[in-house]
Amino acid sequence: THVFTIAIDGPAGAGKGTLARRLADHYRLNLLDTGLTYRAVAHALIQHALPLDNVSAAETAARQVDLARLDRAVLSAHAIGEAASKVAVFPTVRRILVEKQRDFAKTPPGAVLDGRDIGTVVCPDADIKLYVTASAEVRARRRLAEIESIGGTANFAEILADIVHRDERDMGRADSPLKPAADAHLLDTSEMAIEAAFLAARAVIDDVLAKRDKA
Ligand code: C5P
Repeated sequence: THVFTIAIDGPAGAGKGTLARRLADHYRLNLLDTGLTYRAVAHALIQHALPLDNVSAAETAARQVDLARLDRAVLSAHAIGEAASKVAVFPTVRRILVEKQRDFAKTPPGAVLDGRDIGTVVCPDADIKLYVTASAEVRARRRLAEIESIGGTANFAEILADIVHRDERDMGRADSPLKPAADAHLLDTSEMAIEAAFLAARAVIDDVLAKRDKA
């Protein structure tokens, strides 16, 4: 039986997490935020006070990642995202996590996966590939609003510098750098609310489904 796969890639803060959740609900597919798997590895190293460049410890932590037990509340901290991007440069760590992600994608009825390398590496045969971006300034403004909405304070310039730095690390690494797949549909959400992005993505997906039905 054919499993349906929607691959969503893009930089941190472009809105792909919310979009992935909305699409998984709408099309009744499983959902995997693959960033959480890299975060879980970083979190395990931090917990054991191990340096983030300890590759063999990172491999062990990667093997122990259980996709059914990824705790967003624990893993969503900003510092863990930064640490995740450091362990994500190691090819052996990536290979272990990618294998788990592929297994997840194969489970019927299929899944929406979001990350950095889903359309290029994890699921190169995905039915739909979306590359979701927004300018670094817009992403920084959104993150600041998010922090302030939960009563926190932060500095716009610092957030912007962080985002630019993370983009550079994710786009510049040798193994599986962040980039749009050749056949990805680009969705720039800089001037789009999440609802508009959701509708635009649905239009792309429904168009592919309609053409397939006709074929
Ligand atoms: O998306 P999120 O901010 O949770 O990802 C954290 C980090 O994990 C990213 O900055 C990236 O370095 C890494 N990552 C990755 N490949 C993925 C998902 C995340 O390298 N598919």
